Amino acid sequence: MDLCKSSLYTALDPTPSACHGYAFPPGFLWGAATSSHQVEGHNRWNDWWAAEQAGALVHQSGEACSHYELYEQDFDMAQSWGHNAHRLSLEWSRIEPVEGAWNPEAVAHYRDVIRALKQRALEPVVTLHHFTNPAWFTRRGGWLRRDSIERFARYVEYVVQQLGPEVTYWLTINEPTVYVMQGYVNGEWPPFVRGAWGKAIQVCYHMARAHVLTYRLIHQHHANARVGFAHSAPWVMPCRAHKRWDRMTATLRDCMLNRAFFGLMGNRVHGRRTPAVHLDFLGINYYMRTLIRSAGWGLGRILGRACHESHHTDQGVLSDIDWEVYPAGLRAILNKFARLGVPLLITENGIATTDEPLRCEFLKRHLTTLAETIEHDRIPVLGYLYWSLVDNFEWSEGFRAHFGLAAVDYATQERVPRPCADLFAQVCRSNHLSNHQSTF
Ligand code: FCB
Repeated sequence: MDLCKSSLYTALDPTPSACHGYAFPPGFLWGAATSSHQVEGHNRWNDWWAAEQAGALVHQSGEACSHYELYEQDFDMAQSWGHNAHRLSLEWSRIEPVEGAWNPEAVAHYRDVIRALKQRALEPVVTLHHFTNPAWFTRRGGWLRRDSIERFARYVEYVVQQLGPEVTYWLTINEPTVYVMQGYVNGEWPPFVRGAWGKAIQVCYHMARAHVLTYRLIHQHHANARVGFAHSAPWVMPCRAHKRWDRMTATLRDCMLNRAFFGLMGNRVHGRRTPAVHLDFLGINYYMRTLIRSAGWGLGRILGRACHESHHTDQGVLSDIDWEVYPAGLRAILNKFARLGVPLLITENGIATTDEPLRCEFLKRHLTTLAETIEHDRIPVLGYLYWSLVDNFEWSEGFRAHFGLAAVDYATQERVPRPCADLFAQVCRSNHLSNHQSTF
C-alpha cells in the first residue's frame, strides 16, 4: 500500500514532496496508562493487598513503583516525551478506607496529581475502578451483593463532587469481563472463586448497572464530562477455521468476552446497528489474538480452550507472558466496536518484553494499523495510550512482566527510559507516523 496516497495525509498537507506517512487527527490524545495498585505502592486497604499478605497470591505489590510519592517525576518524563494525555486510576480503598468514611488526605493527593498533570499539559483520563476493591467491600460480599451498585455509586459521586471540574474523561470500570473471569471463573484473583458461573453473571450484571448509574451521576454533576469504560478486547478466532466446532466455540467465546457486558448495559455490538446508550466513548484495551479450539461439551468445556501451538501461517511472536503479537486484530476490533457509534479511545496497548527491538516493532506495527484504520475505515479514534508508562506490578505475574516505556530499578526506584520511549515520543510530538522513520 502506498502510504503517500493517504487522503487524510494529503488533506492535511497536500505537498507531495512532504509525503512521509500518516497524520493523526488534530487533538489526538497521546500518552501512557497506569493503575493505582500497580504503581502507587502500599495500597494496604484493598482486597489485593489483603490477599497478598494472607499468602493467597505468590507476589506482593509492596512499594510497587512508589508512584504515590514519585508521580511528579513520572509526569515530567511523560511530558518530556511529548505526551499530551495520561491515564491513571483512583484507589477507592484510599478514598474510603472504612465503609462510609472518606479520607480527605487521599482526595487532596489525587487533586494534586490531577493538577500536576494539567500543569504539564497532560489531559487526565481517570479510571474509577481498576480491579481492586476496598477490603471492607470485599468482606461484605463485594460485587455479588446488589447494594454494591449503590456503594460504588456513593464513592463515585463523592469523587466527582471533589475532583469533577478538573476531569473531562472518566472510565467507570476497567475490564469488567476480565475482573469477573479471573475472580469468579478462573479463581486466580481475589476473591478466588472458581467455576462459579452463576455468581459471575451476577457480578457482571451488578457492574453493568453500576456503570449505567455512575454514567448518569457523573453527567448530573458535570454535563461536559465524557464517560466510558475500558473494555478488554481480544480478537477471538477459531483455531481451525475449517472445523465447525472450533467456529462455534470461538463465536461463543466472543459472545462472552466481547458482547455480553454490552448487552447487560443495553448495547449491541453485533447485528442491527442501534445507537449506543450510556457511553460517550469506549475505551479499548487491545493486546492480542486468542485462537480458540473446541474442547467438547459440558459447562466447563463449552467455551473451548485457547490454543498456544504455533501452527498458523500468520502466527505472531509471543511476548514474555505468552500473548500473541497480532496487529491486524486491532483493526478488526476497532471495526467491531465502531458499530456502537461512539468514538473509541485506545486505553491500553503494549507488550511485556525485555527485547527492546521487539517492543519498537510492536509499537510501530500497531500504530501503523491504527493509522490505517482511522484513514481507510473512517473509524473515529480519540487517542492512543500505551500500557504502561513504567514497568509495574503485573497482578499475578508480579514484577516479571516488563511493559514500561521506562524500566524501574525496584531497589532504588530509579526510572530508566527505554529506546522505544523515544520512538513513541517522535510520533507524539509530531502527531504523525513517518513512513521513513529510520529507527522504526
Ligand atoms: C490489562 C489490565 C492492566 C494491565 C495490562 C497488562 O488487562 O487492565 O492493568 O495489567 O492488562
